[in-house]
Amino acid sequence: MSAHLKQDEPDTRNLLDDMVQGIIGKPLARPDGLGKVTGTAPYAAEYPIADCLEGVLVTAPFTKGTIKGVHKDSVLSMPGVVAVIDDKRLTARAAQGGAGEAPAQPAREVGYFGQPIALVVAESFEQARDAAKHLTFEYRAENVADVPLDPERTDAEPQDGATRQGDLAQAMSQAAHSVDVTYTTEGHSSAAMEPHAAIAQWDGQKLTVHASLQMPNYNISELADALGLEEDQVRLIARYVGGGFGSKLGISEEAVAASIAAMELERPVRVVLSRQQVFQTIMRRSETSQRFRLAADENGRLTGFGHEARVSQLPGESFAEPVLQSSEFLYGGENRLLQLEVARIHRMTAGSVRAPGEAVGMPALESAMDMLAEEVGIDPVELRLRNIPECHPVNGLPYSSRKLAECLEQGAEAFGWDHGPRKPRQRREGEWWIGTGMASAARVHNIAEARARVTLKPDGTALVETDMTDIGTGTYSIVGQVTGEMLGLPMDRVLVDLGDTDFPRGPGSGGSWGASSICSAVFVACEDLRATLAKKAGVSAEELKLKDGGVIGGASLVELLDGEELSVEGHYEPGAVEDDFTASGYGAFFAQVRVNRFTGETRVDRMLGAYGFGRVLNAKTARSQCLGGIVWSIGAALTEALLFDPVDGHIANCDLAEYHVPVNRDVPDLEVIMVEERDPAASPIQAKGVGELGMCGGAAAIGNAIYNACGARVLGFPMTPDRVIAAMPE
Ligand code: MOS
Repeated sequence: MSAHLKQDEPDTRNLLDDMVQGIIGKPLARPDGLGKVTGTAPYAAEYPIADCLEGVLVTAPFTKGTIKGVHKDSVLSMPGVVAVIDDKRLTARAAQGGAGEAPAQPAREVGYFGQPIALVVAESFEQARDAAKHLTFEYRAENVADVPLDPERTDAEPQDGATRQGDLAQAMSQAAHSVDVTYTTEGHSSAAMEPHAAIAQWDGQKLTVHASLQMPNYNISELADALGLEEDQVRLIARYVGGGFGSKLGISEEAVAASIAAMELERPVRVVLSRQQVFQTIMRRSETSQRFRLAADENGRLTGFGHEARVSQLPGESFAEPVLQSSEFLYGGENRLLQLEVARIHRMTAGSVRAPGEAVGMPALESAMDMLAEEVGIDPVELRLRNIPECHPVNGLPYSSRKLAECLEQGAEAFGWDHGPRKPRQRREGEWWIGTGMASAARVHNIAEARARVTLKPDGTALVETDMTDIGTGTYSIVGQVTGEMLGLPMDRVLVDLGDTDFPRGPGSGGSWGASSICSAVFVACEDLRATLAKKAGVSAEELKLKDGGVIGGASLVELLDGEELSVEGHYEPGAVEDDFTASGYGAFFAQVRVNRFTGETRVDRMLGAYGFGRVLNAKTARSQCLGGIVWSIGAALTEALLFDPVDGHIANCDLAEYHVPVNRDVPDLEVIMVEERDPAASPIQAKGVGELGMCGGAAAIGNAIYNACGARVLGFPMTPDRVIAAMPE
C-alpha cells in the first residue's frame, strides 16, 4: 500500500499537536548513541568483509595538465600488489549531489592538484600505500597560479538570476547614510570526522557498496551512471555516517574507484582516503569577494540594497556558492542590485560546504549592517528590526512564518545586550579589549521529495525503512519519534532502519531539508495506517486516540491487528505551496569577545544563538545542531581558511592540525534559544531545517564584537591575529 501527499497548500492541521503521547519534541537520547560512543556502530570502512583487497588512490601533483601514461610495471612486482587501475573514469571529478549522473570526463585531463589518476590495489593497506607512493607516471603539466578574486580579472562569468530593481546608484547618492564595503572570505573544508571510505563487492550481477554518503537516493544513480550499470544493479549502504557537511552529497572518487576495482578483480575492494586526500581531492567551499552597498534614510530604513559577489569554480562545473540567497529577502530597500559572478580557477571542485551560500554570505552582509548601524548611530538590533520587510522586497510573496524579530528580541534579552550607544574600546582588562557584537541569522528553507515505508507488525511494533541517512544529525531519533507519536507506540517499540537503497528513497541529508522531508513522508504513511486502525477500532480517524500501544480505553494494537501486518509506503512531494511563500529559518547571534591589544588574538568569551525553525522534533538533537552551528561560526570567524600554494596549487594546510576547526579550548559556554514556531507552509509537520541555520551569520557577531572591543574593522574572514593587528587603530 502507498499513500501520497503533494503539498500545495499550507498545512494548518495540528495533528501532531493533538497527539496524546507528547513524544514529538522531547529531548530523547539517540537510539544510535550507545553504538557510536562504544565503537560498535559500523562506519563504511569497518564492515568485516572476507577476502577484501585494499586500494589507495594516487593523485595528481600539479594543477593542470595531461596524464600520458601510468607505469604500472613500476609497482606490480612489489609485495602484495594485485593491480594498478588507471581507468579514465577515475579522473572523474566528484559529482555534486543531485545531478543524477556522473560528470562526463575528458580523457586523462587533470584540472586540479589532488585529482585522482590511479588506484593501486594490494592485499594489505600498507602494501597498497607503499606501492602508491612508488608509482610513476608520465605527464605534461603547467602549473597555473590563478588568483580567483583578483579584482583586475575581467573574465568572471555573471550568473543568471540577478536582481535589478530601481536605481541603486541613485539611492546611494541620495542616502542620508550609506555603506559601500567589500568583504572577503576564504575557502573552507567540510572537515567531517569520518574520512571518505567505501567497500565495494561485485557478484557478477549486482554491486553492493558500503560507503559514507549523505544522499544514497541520488548517489545510486550517480554511481550506476559512472559505471555503466542500471540502478537496480547497485545497492548502497550507509547506516552510520561520521559527518558530511556537504562533502558527501555527491558520489566521490573512493566509491567509484573501489567499484571499478571490485568489478575488474572480482574481489571486494576497500578504499579509504587519507585525511590529506579528503582535503585535496573531494571538494572545497569557494572563496568569495562580496561588495555591499547599503543606502538608508535618516532613521536607518534601507532605501537601497546592493550585494555583488564573486566566487570561484573549476572550469566546466556549474555550482556557484549562492551567497546572495538570503540577501534576496532578509531586508527591505526598494532599489536593489544583486549579482553573482564566477571566476574560473584550477582548484578542486567548489561545492556545498556547511550551509552553502549563507554560511559566508550572511557574515559579510551582517558585518556591513553593523557598519550601517554605526553610520546611522542606532543600536544594531534596532537597525535589523526596522528593516524587516512586510513581504518579499522583489516578488511580493508573503513570508511563511518568520520569527526574526522574536529571535532578535529574546536573544538580546537573554544575552543582556546593552541597547545604549556603542563605541569601540570602552572596556579593557589587562592586555585584553572586550566587546560585544550581534548579527541576524537566515537560511532558506529547503524541502525534498521523500519516501519511507512504515510497517506495523502483528506484535504491535513498528518498523520504518528508508534510504535516508543519519549523518550525525539525529534522523534515527526524529523518525522514531514521529512514528511513535502517530501510532501511539512507546519508543522501544519502534525500529528505524536507514541508509540502504533497497529501502524506499528518502530525501538524503543536505541543505537542512532532511528532517522535515523524511518526517513528512513518515507522517503521510502513519496517517494512512491510522485510518486503517480507526476503521478496525470502529471510530473515525480524528477520534482515534492511540497511546502506549493501543487505543485509549480500548483494544491494544495487537488485538486490532489480529495477526495481520500493515505496511504503507509514505510518499511526500513538495508542491505549489513552495511558490506561494518565502520560506526561511531565522535567528540572531550575540557574542562577547576579548582581543589581545598586542597580539591581535581573539577569544570568544560567550555566545548565544536564538533560532526559529518551525516545529522542534527533538529538543536535544535540534539544540546540538544549533551548538554545532555556533562552533562553526567561531571557526569561520577566526581560524578556518584553506591555504593554496601559489605555485602548484596544493593545499598547504590539508589536515586537522593545520586547518583549524574550533576545539574545546576555543569554545566557551554557548547558549541556545529555540523560539516556539509552527510553519504550516514549510512542511506538513510544520518544521523547517535547523542544521545550517545554526551558523548562518554567526561569524559576523564575532567580527562585530572584535570591532566593538578594539576598533579593528577587519574586512576579511577569518579574522586571524595578523589581520586584526593590521586593522587595529593606533
Ligand atoms: Mo549540505 S553543505 O547541503 O550537506
